[in-house]
Amino acid sequence: MNLDELKEKMKLTDAALESLLPPENRYPEIIYKAMRYSVFAGGKRLRPVILLSVCEMLGGDIKKALPFAAAIEMIHTYSLIHDDLPALDNDDYRRGRLTSHKMFGEDIAILTGDALLGHAFEVMSKQTAESGDINMAKAMYDIAFGCGVNGMLTGQVVDVISEGKAIDKDTLDFIHLNKTAAMIQGAFKAGAHLASADEETVEKLNKAAEKIGVAFQIQDDIMDVTSSFEEMGKPALSDEKNNKTTYVTLLGIEGSKKVVKDLSKEACDILETFGDKAEFLIELTKYLTERKK
Ligand code: IPE
Ligand code: IPE
Ligand code: MG
Ligand code: MG
Ligand code: MG
Repeated sequence: MNLDELKEKMKLTDAALESLLPPENRYPEIIYKAMRYSVFAGGKRLRPVILLSVCEMLGGDIKKALPFAAAIEMIHTYSLIHDDLPALDNDDYRRGRLTSHKMFGEDIAILTGDALLGHAFEVMSKQTAESGDINMAKAMYDIAFGCGVNGMLTGQVVDVISEGKAIDKDTLDFIHLNKTAAMIQGAFKAGAHLASADEETVEKLNKAAEKIGVAFQIQDDIMDVTSSFEEMGKPALSDEKNNKTTYVTLLGIEGSKKVVKDLSKEACDILETFGDKAEFLIELTKYLTERKK
């Protein structure tokens, strides 16, 4: 894995977030503090790194893509804050810190999620309106599609209504495709559109992203059982606590690992059709599906 390239993209993302999030010393301070508390808690920055890497691979201007990279991370962070709430997964730690509701109370945590979602669209729509660039409008649509009722939101709905129930593999795949893969697909498609890619290219990357996204969530389910709090910065055995059906409960650890490996290979096969330029994204795919955090 080219760690220098990964770190560089993470640094660019963090700098964009720093400049695009409101300062903390503005009234009412608590909401700006809470937004920054969760955003700057040390996430992997996977979705922005993907967005920037795809844009770069296809010859786009990374500078133009930075507000979109920051925005997708704001939306992802909102989804984590709400995912951890007592009414959902009820987890006390995230990214190695107390969760937002533990730190600021449930009321402010709910509002912080809302604030990050709203601010992400403020950032993206401002760029789009000021530039009049249709590719920015497409990227904003990709991200909206990924996080809304065609994606992450619906996945979270089926995830919570399935708690304590024995669900079949099709339902579990619906959950994974929506709650996790959809945002990763949004990152790939937005990165491609920001590089003015044609729709055939976008669709090819969308297919690879779907496989990476599902593999990423199965790996998350595996780590829930096999990794520690120290490794992940979030509690282990959260799924068991909430009586969730996961790949691990359906196929066991070894069976799940095999699916992750197969999906990762299928995704890499698609990425390889882009030639040498895809090397970083291929390495990233392998790295993510072998991770422990
Ligand atoms: C956690 O996402 C939620 C899932 C979709 C599995 P990440 O594993 O990308 O979390 P951070 O951003 O690194 O904290
Ligand atoms: C959540 O899945 C995916 C989101 C859309 C936030 P999980 O509930 O498994 O994520 P973690 O394990 O809490 O990060
Ligand atoms: Mg959850
Ligand atoms: Mg959770
Ligand atoms: Mg999990």
